[in-house]
Parts: sequence; structure tokens; C-alpha cells
Amino acid sequence: MSALLNKVSDRLIVQEVSPRDGLQIEPGWVPTEDKIALIDGLSQAGFSRIEAGSFVSPKAIPALRDGDDVFRRIARKDGVIYVALIPNVKGAERALLAGADELNMVMSASQTHNRANMRMNCEASLAGFADIVSLAGGMDNVSLNATIATAFGCPFEGKIDEDRVMRIVDDYLQLGAHAIGGITLADTTGMANPRQVARIVGRVLQRLPAAALTLHFHNTRGLGLVNVMAAYEAGARRFDAALGGLGGCPFAPGASGNICTEDLVNLCEETGIETGIDLPLLIAMSRKLPALLGHEVPGQLAKAGRNGDLHPIPAALQAAA
Ligand code: COA
Ligand code: ZN
Repeated sequence: MSALLNKVSDRLIVQEVSPRDGLQIEPGWVPTEDKIALIDGLSQAGFSRIEAGSFVSPKAIPALRDGDDVFRRIARKDGVIYVALIPNVKGAERALLAGADELNMVMSASQTHNRANMRMNCEASLAGFADIVSLAGGMDNVSLNATIATAFGCPFEGKIDEDRVMRIVDDYLQLGAHAIGGITLADTTGMANPRQVARIVGRVLQRLPAAALTLHFHNTRGLGLVNVMAAYEAGARRFDAALGGLGGCPFAPGASGNICTEDLVNLCEETGIETGIDLPLLIAMSRKLPALLGHEVPGQLAKAGRNGDLHPIPAALQAAA
């Protein structure tokens, strides 16, 4: 696990997932050109990792059926890792052909959600991942990440046993210490709370270093950024977030947006945590989303402006001065 050797710094790494998690649930078709323009804009904003699409069944997620085209036509920026979400070997083959830098394999901690989302049980997902490791695990220019969806709660099963999450982490690590570059814990429908997050992050960081762990929070119950802070304080350093707070899994009832990238970056700036991301550019991009998608987006900073965006003093007060 080469990522394991990286020294942990205070910097918070944001992986931007709006082109994948954000767009997968959009009811309207976003043209390929617009997806490419979105990703190209994000590449200029300072992200080191962008989840640019998924290679899943086009019947399951019609909104991302043009992933092959998108990956081939984006303007790749040096130093940016372009990640593809995949459910199975067929997805891995398509993603490799299209030039993805990292394959993100996804399975749920909950059997019920895995069957709703992936139409197979967890054992079948894991068996497929072993085949993906055989296919891509030894490749020099491709890394593998493994996600545990519904790790903090499931909309069908409710609470998820924390020991089960640890067993899945161990299952993933056993796929090959050199094969799996990272593990993501995903809160698919925003059921996590900060104390649970701190506990689970603490346990996972006994198994792998911070550089190899990503947290993926949704803001469905308003706890997204609180959970980020709890995870950060517990030692986590990598977080998924989506421009505008877009996102959600179409196979999880009640799903809603990821934590909002510009809200997260603002939190980091206000608390003195470095991200390397161009916040004014992000805000400008986020403000274009309603026109692109035909609806308002949940993010708050793009509406409110930054703390430093001051308003004119009321005329009556100026006159009195
Ligand atoms: N990419 C494109 N097509 C795929 C595919 C992939 N990764 N995997 C399967 N297919 C195609 C098969 O070729 C087959 O096509 P056909 O009907 O033209 O013959 C069809 O899909 C059914 O294949 P099967 O293996 O029986 O899949 P399934 O219907 O049981 O669905 C998944 C299983 C995993 C492919 C599907 O549930 C899926 O894509 N889930 C992902 C959902 C998702 O992205 N959720 C949000 C992110 S977590
Ligand atoms: Zn998600």
C-alpha cells in the first residue's frame, strides 16, 4: 500500500465528486459537453482528485451513461487523479479503456442496500472485487479504492454494526495489501453523527493510515460538516464533497446531497485548515449550477457569500456619522 507511507499533514484533501455522485441523481440530462466543461473547471480549481463519472449499467444510472466519452475528452491536468466509480469487472474494463486513473469499487455494509443498489449480495460484490484486483491490481498507472456505502446507517436496515464495518475493512485489505490504495467510508443517506464518526475513524485508523482513508458524508440531516470536523479531529484527512451540495444515491430512499464543496472549503479557510482549493472560483462555478440543472442547489456559501463579502452600511447610518 504505497499511499500508506505518506506523511500525514494538517492539510485536508477534498475529492470533488459532483460529476459522479452529483449528476447521477439529476432527473434532467446533462449534455456530455457540459459534464466535460464542469470537470475541466474543477481541474483548474486546485483539486488533486476528481471523481469524474461511473461505469455502471446505463439502465441503473442513465444520467452517467456517457462516462466513456467524458473520460476520453476531459482536459487532464497534471497531478489530478481522475477517479471512476465501478460496480463490477465490466465497469473496471470500461474505466480502464477510457483512461481512468483510479477505480473506486463500491459495496454497501448493508446487504439490503447492496441488493437494491448493485442487485447482488455483499459476497458477490467482494468476489467481483477480487477479480478486479487480478485485472488491475498490478498496473503501475492505476490505483484501486474500495468504498463501504451505508457504513454509518442504512435507510432499509437502520443501524449498522460497527464490527461489521471493521470486518469489511479487513476484507478489503485482504484483497491485497499492495492492491488497495484507499478505503472510503460512505454515509449514503446522512445518518452518521459526530461521536459515531470519531469512534469509527479511530478504529479504522488502527488498520490503515490517514492518507488512505476517505470519508464520504451526505448532508441529508444537516450533520455533514459537523461529521467532517469530528473525523478530522480523529485524524482523517481526506473527504469527498460535491459542488453546490449536489448528489445522492437513486437506490437509497430519501437520499440527498453530498456535503457541499464550497461550504467545506469555507469551513477550512475560516478554521485555518489548508486545502489548496480556489474558493472564489468554486463559488463562481457553483453559482452557474442552477442554470445548468434547472433547479436551486443546497449549498449555502454561494448564496450567502464569504464572511469578507461585506455589505454597504445603511444610508441612514452613514448620514448620522
Ligand atoms: N457497465 C455497463 N453495462 C453493464 C455493466 C457495467 N459496469 N454491468 C452490467 N452491465 C450490463 C450487462 O452487460 C447487461 O446488459 P444487457 O442487458 O444489454 O445484456 C445488463 O447490464 C445486466 O447485467 P447484469 O450483470 O445482469 O447486471 P444487473 O442488472 O444485475 O445489475 C449492476 C448489476 C451492478 C450492473 C447494476 O445494478 C449497477 O450498475 N448498479 C450501480 C448503481 C449505482 O451506480 N449506484 C450509485 C452509485 S453507488
Ligand atoms: Zn454518495
